[in-house]
Amino acid sequence: MKTITDLLTQRTSGHALDQAFYNDPNVFKADLDAFHYRDWLFAVPACELEKPGSFVTHKVGEYRIVLVRGADQEIRAFHNTCRHRGSVICKVAKGHAPKLVCPYHQWTYELDGSLLWARDMGPDFDPSQHGLKPVHCRELAGLVYVCLAETAPDFDNFADVARPYLEPHDLANAKVAFESSIIENGNWKLVWENNRECYHCGGNHPALCRSFPEDPSVTGIGEGGEVPPRLQAHFDRCESAGVKSQFFIQSDGQYRLARMPLNEGSKSYTMDGAPAVTRKLGHVPYDDAGALLKFHYPSTWNHFLPDHSIVFRVTPISPTETEVTTKWLVHKDAVEGVDYDLKRLTEVWMATNDEDRRVVEDNQQGVDSPAYTPGPYSPLQESGVIQFTDWYCATLAERMSPDTLAAE
Ligand code: FES
Ligand SMILES: [Fe+2]
Repeated sequence: MKTITDLLTQRTSGHALDQAFYNDPNVFKADLDAFHYRDWLFAVPACELEKPGSFVTHKVGEYRIVLVRGADQEIRAFHNTCRHRGSVICKVAKGHAPKLVCPYHQWTYELDGSLLWARDMGPDFDPSQHGLKPVHCRELAGLVYVCLAETAPDFDNFADVARPYLEPHDLANAKVAFESSIIENGNWKLVWENNRECYHCGGNHPALCRSFPEDPSVTGIGEGGEVPPRLQAHFDRCESAGVKSQFFIQSDGQYRLARMPLNEGSKSYTMDGAPAVTRKLGHVPYDDAGALLKFHYPSTWNHFLPDHSIVFRVTPISPTETEVTTKWLVHKDAVEGVDYDLKRLTEVWMATNDEDRRVVEDNQQGVDSPAYTPGPYSPLQESGVIQFTDWYCATLAERMSPDTLAAE
């Protein structure tokens, strides 16, 4: 029996991970404990919680949570488990309710989580001791993050760095034009590894490659940390127009922001490269400013364009299943059929997601073979994957409880 510590110590950097990291239930549990139960996770765009009483539910590992906008307009998150005998309270993916009412015995909670009403609980019952348990929740420029940890890590540094990049996209005035949720039969890290390179794009993404550059300096972390002059010129042009764009990666590598150019002549992720929405979301001054690419491990990558934005959420379901949720955001006043065509808006990433699902599932199946051995990443094409797996291994080593065991 090898421990996870053994696996981490014996790992060859610059190579894919050992099989156990991709399919072992004990590693999966260690991942949840070390990352998803501990880090800030992107949950939803704030615009989805449109008015007081709007709620959405989410499940991360064994935790079920509900996010709700209160009468005071504040968005809060709670554990979606009743303080009576523990029933799930909100059962649907999203909805609107004046109060949160448990379906079992109708204990009734205010939108701020306080217990308003519980029938026949006797004279000694104290409702103030039975409010919903809160989950850490922060809104950043129209994106809502949650943290399941008892004590949340710092959020302000990330927020301070990300806010100026996000502000030109005016996500507070967005609406969700379309959303898709798919299950990829692959470990969450294979989903991320696939996202962090475009080595696979030419062979798999005919629609995306019309607008998205295969240039590894766009997906990866640059060549030896240097920003190529052509990219620097793009950052400088956008920044001189007041739009934060410069490549930034956090010192420990958990998040990155950069406004990257699209292919020459492309303005958005459409089949012809022209904008998908005429009523723009945000105030990016150039329609050829490209895409603000943001990732924040372990839960989200995003593309913010001059005409619309796309947010992605990655949620592990089991060692070999991962949910990928995609939401296309447009200006709240943009009218479908007038300002945008839904098929045109979504077709490139609907196709791309499906293609990515297929390559991730193929990857998982091959990795599950007893004959699998971790092969080398391309230093030129897969610097982003090397960065992700190095971040993952270093962070897991630092956070893991020492007695967690992995099967041989
Ligand atoms: S379990 Fe919720 S009211 Fe009884
Ligand atoms: Fe892809």
